[in-house]
Amino acid sequence: MRTYLVTGGAGFIGSNYIHYMFRKYGDDIRIINLDVLTYAGNPENLKDLEGNDNYIFVKADITDKEAVSKIFEEYDIDRVVHFAAESHVDRSIKDPEAFIKTNVYGTGVMLSCAKAAWELPEGPDPLGNYKPDKKFLHVSTDEVYGSLPEGEGYFYETTPYSPHSPYSASKAGSDMLVKAYMDTYHFPANITNCSNNYGPYQFPEKLIPLIINNALHGKKLPVYGDGKNVRDWLYVEDHAKAIDMVQEKGKLFETYNVGGHNEKQNIEIIKIILNTLNEMLPDGDERKAHINEGLITYVEDRKGHDRRYAIAPDKIKKEIGWEPETRFEEGIKLTIKWYFEHEDWMSNVVNGDYMKYYENMYGKKEKA
Ligand code: NAD
Ligand code: DAU
Repeated sequence: MRTYLVTGGAGFIGSNYIHYMFRKYGDDIRIINLDVLTYAGNPENLKDLEGNDNYIFVKADITDKEAVSKIFEEYDIDRVVHFAAESHVDRSIKDPEAFIKTNVYGTGVMLSCAKAAWELPEGPDPLGNYKPDKKFLHVSTDEVYGSLPEGEGYFYETTPYSPHSPYSASKAGSDMLVKAYMDTYHFPANITNCSNNYGPYQFPEKLIPLIINNALHGKKLPVYGDGKNVRDWLYVEDHAKAIDMVQEKGKLFETYNVGGHNEKQNIEIIKIILNTLNEMLPDGDERKAHINEGLITYVEDRKGHDRRYAIAPDKIKKEIGWEPETRFEEGIKLTIKWYFEHEDWMSNVVNGDYMKYYENMYGKKEKA
């Protein structure tokens, strides 16, 4: 049985990935989920796995080397899939240090512990010899490439890094550490750089769940700047599938960009959500009365706001055969349906801490 160590598995993409993997491989795999449960980590996301002997949760911090080493000593880990990170750009602008610590130093700890556990004392490769079939996948973002002009160009694996926010700079730093381990020690790793994800279990600080939640409650829909910044949206399950395929079919030491050519301006996304909510709510639902474009509120722009992201997924398609399966029109309906069916999940996460964050973030952003 293959053993996975997934970091940050209680977050948005990590929990979707764990569900995907158990759906795909069933009892043939064992997953250890290492997560410290920050505000973004939610054990409820994996409640259905309670009682599954092949799922083990370890509450620990990736910056705690002793705790991470202990996991490698206790279990013979075959695959590491490293999601754990501080992931929200706006928070990084307010508090960069947490991002530097978790994203850069934490990735350093993960690499160091995996290398120590997998390294063989000697072998033919002067740069490094490892136990067979051990692999580390570092989950990164398209934001490391910086910003593209409107309507022109794509991010390729060869695009130079040019991060702008403390978040993207810390992810770029973590990518560089992984590259350094591959180059210096021939450490068996891959990097994936993915575009914006959306889908079930996404914390409502991010655009799509925030808009769904605010619209349902008749709250203002905050649009940064002119609303014309472009993001390239991918349904989270397609990302989970890409990660698995890269780890199984990708060439070691390579980077793969992941995205589905689904560019949309933020304002378009918001209008699509409003229309879809109205379409999906049953006739007579009183929330329909307030779900309209009158809720849209332009607010102060994000500092250093990247204009456009757009991934060229040519390499992953050609070398690995990955293709996204979920078109945006379908994915947004699945996402909204999930939020309709999980109102308790939303009300549990929109607790006192979230309200404080929201007030602090958006109270100040409102334009006169
Ligand atoms: P998230 O914020 O929803 O989840 C992050 C998880 O990591 C949480 O469960 C949190 O508790 C855990 N965590 C944070 N600090 C930790 C620490 N020090 N030790 C252990 N666990 C810790 O994030 P997400 O949106 O699921 O993103 C996951 C990964 O994917 C990140 O590395 C992010 O950079 C990358 N990524 C995200 C997107 C996106 O659109 N969300 C796109 C591309 C790449
Ligand atoms: O591109 C991949 C990245 O996508 C990931 O690496 C990050 O972890 C993830 O958070 C996401 O970053 P973005 O900054 O693109 O996502 P966010 O949902 O925060 O914002 C999407 C766009 O919407 C962005 O242009 C800012 C804008 N926005 C966001 C919020 C929360 C608004 O206009 N209003 C809002 O209230």
